[in-house]
Amino acid sequence: MANTVLIGSQWGDEGKGKVIDVLTADADWVVRYQGGNNAGHTVEVGDQKYVLHLAPSGILRPDAKCIIGNGLVVDPIGLTEELQDLEKRGISIAGRLFISDRAHLVIQYHKELDGAKEAKLETGKKIGTTKRGIGPAYSDKADRSGLRMGDVLEDDFETMLRERVAAKNAMLSVLGAPSLDADELVATYRPAFEYLKPFICDTVPMLNAAMRDSSQNVLFEGAQGVMLDIDFGTYPFVTSSSTGAGGVASGAGVPPHAIDDVIGIVKAYTTRVGEGPFPTELFDDDGKALGKVGNEFGATTGRPRRCGWFDGVVARYAAMIGGIDRWALMKLDVLDGFETIKICTAYECDGELLDMVPASISKLSRCKPVYEDFKGWNCPTTGCTSMDELPEQAKKYIRRLEEVTGVPVAILSVGPKRSSTIVLD
Ligand code: GDP
Ligand code: IMO
Ligand code: MG
Repeated sequence: MANTVLIGSQWGDEGKGKVIDVLTADADWVVRYQGGNNAGHTVEVGDQKYVLHLAPSGILRPDAKCIIGNGLVVDPIGLTEELQDLEKRGISIAGRLFISDRAHLVIQYHKELDGAKEAKLETGKKIGTTKRGIGPAYSDKADRSGLRMGDVLEDDFETMLRERVAAKNAMLSVLGAPSLDADELVATYRPAFEYLKPFICDTVPMLNAAMRDSSQNVLFEGAQGVMLDIDFGTYPFVTSSSTGAGGVASGAGVPPHAIDDVIGIVKAYTTRVGEGPFPTELFDDDGKALGKVGNEFGATTGRPRRCGWFDGVVARYAAMIGGIDRWALMKLDVLDGFETIKICTAYECDGELLDMVPASISKLSRCKPVYEDFKGWNCPTTGCTSMDELPEQAKKYIRRLEEVTGVPVAILSVGPKRSSTIVLD
C-alpha cells in the first residue's frame, strides 16, 4: 500500500470513512491533511456506527497511529468531545493520536462569523456552509492573524486569545451579531485545551520518517471532495481548503513525490449538500428514491443531500487534477432497484459539447447533462463478494463508468459494512 492518498472526487460524502476504515487494516498511519469538523465520515463496525469529524478514521483500528495535520482547522471543543466520546466507547487514543502544532484553531468567533455572514447573504448567494467556522478560520490563517495549536502551549496563550476576541467582536458588530465575552470564552475553552495539550507536537518529522520507512504504510484521508476544492470546485460554493491530492504536500508537510498511489472515491451516483450548481441533480421520483434508499442525510448537519445520476464529467475532471490511479466505487447497492440508470458522459452548453467542468459558475449552471441509459439489474448486490457474482447489467454499468472516466475501479462497495466490500485490485 505504501503512501496512499484517498480523496473524495465529487461533492463530499462519497464514503471516504468506510474506505479508509477498510484499508486501515493494512495501514500504520492515517493522516488528515485539510478541512475541519465540517467533515462527517461514517464508519460501521459490527453493530457500532461512528461518525468522525476531526479524528482520522484510522482511530478505530487499535494498531494505527493517527495524525491531524498542519493543514486542518481544529475546533478544540469539538475535537475534545469527539475524542472523549471515542474513549467512552472503548477506543484508546493516548499515544496514537498526534495533532500538528501548526494546525489552526477554530474558536467560537469563527462560528459566529460564519453564521452571521451567511445570514447576510441574499438567497441564491448563500453557500449553505456547515456553520463550523471553517471559512473564517482559514481566512485568519491566510491573513496571518490565526492562532495555532502550538500557541496553546505558550504561557501567554490566554492573552493572545483575549486579544483575538476583542478584534473579532468589532467584526461581529459590523455584521449586527452579538459580541462575545472574553473571560467567559477563555473559561469555556480552558478544559478542552488542557485535554488536548498532550497530543500537540511537531508531526512533520515523525510522518516523514514513516514515509521513508518502506515497512510503514501511510494513508492520507481527504475530507470533502474535489468539487468543493477552493481552487477547482464550484467557487464560491466550495469549502475553504485544498481537498484534492495536491493538498497533501502542504497540508501534512510531505514531499509530493513520496505519494505512491491516489485512490478517488466516488458514489455510483452523485450527491451534494449545500448550495451551488449540480448539473445531474434530479428533482423527480428517481432523485427522491436515491435519497431514500441511499439514506442521504448530512453526517455533520443532518441536512437532506441533493441527489442525481453519476456525473462522468466531474469524475474525469477530478481524476485529471488528482492524478487518480483507481476508483473506490461506493454505494452500488443503492442502484439495485432502479429500472433505468443513467451516466452523464458530457455537458451540452450554449450549443457546445464539454468534457470538462468549466470554471465559470454561470456557464456550469447552464450545462445540461448528456446521458447514456442503462437497464437496471433489479436484484440485490449487497451479498456479492466478487465481481463475478455481480449481475451482468451491473458489470456493464461499471465497465462504462471506467471508460467514461478513464480510470479503473479497484474497490467496489455494496453496503455500509466492512464486509460489503469487493477489492478488485
Ligand atoms: P464520507 O464523508 O465520504 O466519509 O461519507 P459519509 O459518511 O458522509 O456518507 C456516506 C454514507 O454512506 C454513510 O452513511 C456510510 O455508512 C454509507 N455507505 C458507505 N458505503 C456504502 C455502500 O456501499 N452502500 C451503502 N448503502 N451505504 C454506504
Ligand atoms: P465530508 O468530508 C459534503 C459543504 C457544505 C457547503 C460547503 C462549504 O463529510 O465529505 P463549509 O462549512 O466547509 O464552509 O461549507 O461545503 N461541505 C461538505 N459537503 N461533505 C463534507 O465533508 C462537507 N464539508 C463541507 O455543505 O456546501
Ligand atoms: Mg461526510
